[in-house]
Order: sequence, then structure tokens, then C-alpha cells
Amino acid sequence: PQPWPGIIQAYPDRIPVPSGAKVITLGEGNTPLLPAPHLSELTGCEVHLKVEGANPTGSFKDRGMTVAITHALASGLKAVICASTGNTSASAAAYAARAGLTCAVLVPQGKIAMGKLAQAVLHGARILQVDGNFDDCLELAQKTAIDYPVTLVNSVNPVRIAGQKSAAFEICDVLGRAPDIHCLPVGNAGNITAYWAGYSEYAGDGVVKNTPRMFGFQAAGAAPLVHGEPVADPDTIATAIRIGSPASWDGAMKAKNASAGLFEAITDEKILEAYRLLARKEGVFVEPASATSVAGLLATVADGRLPKGSTVVCTVTGHGLKDPATALEGNVEVEPLAVDPTAVATALDLR
Ligand code: F0G
Repeated sequence: PQPWPGIIQAYPDRIPVPSGAKVITLGEGNTPLLPAPHLSELTGCEVHLKVEGANPTGSFKDRGMTVAITHALASGLKAVICASTGNTSASAAAYAARAGLTCAVLVPQGKIAMGKLAQAVLHGARILQVDGNFDDCLELAQKTAIDYPVTLVNSVNPVRIAGQKSAAFEICDVLGRAPDIHCLPVGNAGNITAYWAGYSEYAGDGVVKNTPRMFGFQAAGAAPLVHGEPVADPDTIATAIRIGSPASWDGAMKAKNASAGLFEAITDEKILEAYRLLARKEGVFVEPASATSVAGLLATVADGRLPKGSTVVCTVTGHGLKDPATALEGNVEVEPLAVDPTAVATALDLR
């Protein structure tokens, strides 16, 4: 069998790149659609996790970035820029390194997880920490890309969305249909826009007969789509989705409305509960923002909005190793214990 070629070459007729362009790929996509037995039992549904932490840089951003960097290289410009809560910057830095392009990233100072910063550093990105939030960073990045010869690779760049549609294609290809319900964490709203475009495209072309209801979940302190207006000072432990003014607002609304979906706010407490549950019961280590989809799923079970027997996919968007600090800071019942080498069995209560 051929090795997986990355999403551009896996879906060449659906993800266009300039003719003759050199494709920049790290083998992104083809991530596990993992059955979740514990969540299925809890919900009375057939729940699958789309494990996007399995992408090359540990998040779903790689699907869009392979396309954005391939276009950027083909354009002849030598540099790319993005604003990020961390994952976009890690992905842009890696793909730019692969392409031989300069990468600049604007991140909110003190509000990006350690693993993501480490990635951008090691891939050689120029990292600018901004005294502000993601929304401020995005505005600055957009301005810079207008005034200088540098390509913006945030999801306001439509080719990013085109690449991220591939996750919906993969899910349909594995299930042989679209799920009944798709749950996502929502921040800047590019991903929910992309999934809906992907499902709609497959249904429009008759590859599948159905489209899912799109359930989008935001952190309670950063829930502009739930409130119907931007949030000036977004705050949540899920730093990846600490966003007050989503760029793809219209795309998210369209996905919700056209699919009879919903948006819901999830407290940090519930996000962390789902974060621990995924790790302890499903064996899947995600970053906190990613657990928002699962916390949302459980919230809609609790209030009766999730029809029993549904086929559900929850995207878990980023790997748990991105944010080791949150895993260790007060979220574990089991503290690492110092032991005498002769006392291991005793410490474990083994008899
Ligand atoms: N989950 C993770 C782990 C993310 O990094 C992001 C977004 C989202 C969910 C939300 O996706 O923005 O398409 O609605 N992270 C961006 C970044 C903002 O800069 O890495 P969205």
C-alpha cells in the first residue's frame, strides 16, 4: 500500500492548489475516528472521537496549514504571518520550516500553552508576544499582511478552510455516511465553518445522503456566538479558544442555522471534568479546549437535547501534551509520589 500522502494529494479534486505548485506536506490527516465506549454508554449514543492531536504538529491546524503554505510558497512571497492562541503558530512554524519560508507569529503574552510555544521556538519562528488577546493579535497580523509582502495564514485565508474540510470527508469515508450530530469546540470559528462546508460538499455531490446537526461549544468566559455579540475580555482555562470576536462569525452562524444545530457555553469546571474523563476513561489525552466538545455533548444529554441512539462525532482538536501545566496543576487526584526503591509494592497497596 502507498503511504498516506497528506490531505492535498488524498483529496486532489476537492482541495485545489495552484497548478505546478510544490505541495508542502507533513503527512497530515487520516487521523483516528476512535469509538468511545464509555461516552457511548453514558449518552446512549454511538460516540466517536476524531482525534486531531494525531496530526503532525498535534492539532487540526495542520489540515489547513498544508494548503496555506503550499499556496504561500507558490505565490513567490518569502514570509508568512499569523495570529494564534498557540496551535496555529506551531503549525505555521513547522510547515514554513519545511517550505523554507520565514514565519512570524503574534501570540497573546502569557496566554499560550507551553508545548505550543516550544514548537514555534524550535521550528525557528519569529515570535512576537503581544500585550493583548488573540483578537488584538489577529488585527495586527491582518494589518501587517496588507502593508507588507507577507502572506496571512490565519483561517480568514480561505484556503485554510478548504484544507480543514478534509476532516469531514475522512469521517464520512470511514462511517459510510455523515454522523447525525457533530460536536466541536469553537473559538475563531474557522473549523466549524470548514466541517460544515465539507459535509455540505459531500452531500451536494451525493457521496453521502445526510448532513449532521452541528453542535458548537464555547467556553463560558469566551462565548460570543452564544451571547450573539463579541466579548471584550474573553477568559477561560482553555487558552486555545480564548477568543472574543470570531473571524468566521458568519460561517459559524450558517453552520448552526442550516443544520438545525446549536451553540452552548460550557464552564471551565465542566471542560476540565471532560478533560479528565477523556484521559481516565477513554485513554485519550487532549488539551483542555478539545474537551469542550465532549463537555458539550454531556451537557446536551443532561438537558435532553441529544436524541438517544444518535451517531455522534466529537472532534478533539489538540493533543494533551500541548499543555502539560494544566494536566499537572491541581487537576489530578493522583500526585506523583516519591518512594524508596524497596517500597514500591507497599506504596501501590499491592499484596
Ligand atoms: N481547539 C483547539 C485546540 C484550537 O487550537 C482551536 C483554535 C480551536 C479548538 C477552535 O477552532 O478557531 O477554528 O473555532 N485555535 C486557534 C489558534 C485560534 O490560534 O491556534 P476555531
